[in-house]
Amino acid sequence: MDNRPVGVFDSGLGGLTAVRELRRLLPNEDIVYFGDTGRCPYGTKGRVTIERFAAQDIRFLLGFNVKVIVIACNTVSSVALEMASEMSPVPVVGVIESAARAASAATKSGKIGVLGTFTTITSGRYEQALHALQPSLTVTGRACPMFVPLVENGYFGRDCRVAEIIAHEYLDELRGTVDTLILGCTHYPILKGMIADIMGDGVALIDTGRETAMEAARLLEHRGLLKDGGDGSARFFVSDRTDDFARLAAILLGSPIENVGLVKIDQY
Ligand code: DGL
Repeated sequence: MDNRPVGVFDSGLGGLTAVRELRRLLPNEDIVYFGDTGRCPYGTKGRVTIERFAAQDIRFLLGFNVKVIVIACNTVSSVALEMASEMSPVPVVGVIESAARAASAATKSGKIGVLGTFTTITSGRYEQALHALQPSLTVTGRACPMFVPLVENGYFGRDCRVAEIIAHEYLDELRGTVDTLILGCTHYPILKGMIADIMGDGVALIDTGRETAMEAARLLEHRGLLKDGGDGSARFFVSDRTDDFARLAAILLGSPIENVGLVKIDQY
């Protein structure tokens, strides 16, 4: 048993898709979440910048004596997982491997699509992970850079016309060519309903926020690190726009959020 909190971070709101699932799977756990809203998006930036940001995010979370770091961000997991694992004294959970396993298990045609940020797609990490599992898979990547600003600005309602036009722009070419689609950015499950409508029935959507949470839950269980009962709590911190974050996070998590802390992340 280990009663220290679970540390989770992302560039902004996207990692809440992992928090939502973590709270469902492990309701006793205390969670400390950091969303780097002041520097979002990460997915348009290169490895050096993302490594620096991720190192600061991790140092901030380690200040809460967390027992695990959950990188609820495909972009960081694609280019900075090794650095994160080397610098962290506690276990680090990334996104890519568990999402690739879920996609590999789901596909029947062997044709998998990957949606992600520019950095995630150009890193080739999903192709590598999928081909390591099944060399015969056909993997088609598609960068969807406008999805993150849509979500961060609250344009994620199922009937949002702007989001729908952009989703068609990204997805129309993929429709009918894959039977499994990895939502390879934790912001994208927030648009899942719309993506499902466009892709049509019979396409399995892999929610990377959910997969990361399941991976973290497995790790805590296997290593005997689960909390010893009691009610779980969640604390939220961001690097800018606390009010916007609180408003949108409450919608995404389905419950009000109190006291979002503002962090000067450059100081870490
Ligand atoms: N939600 C993150 C991801 O999974 C980052 C998106 C971004 O900041 O560009 O990739």
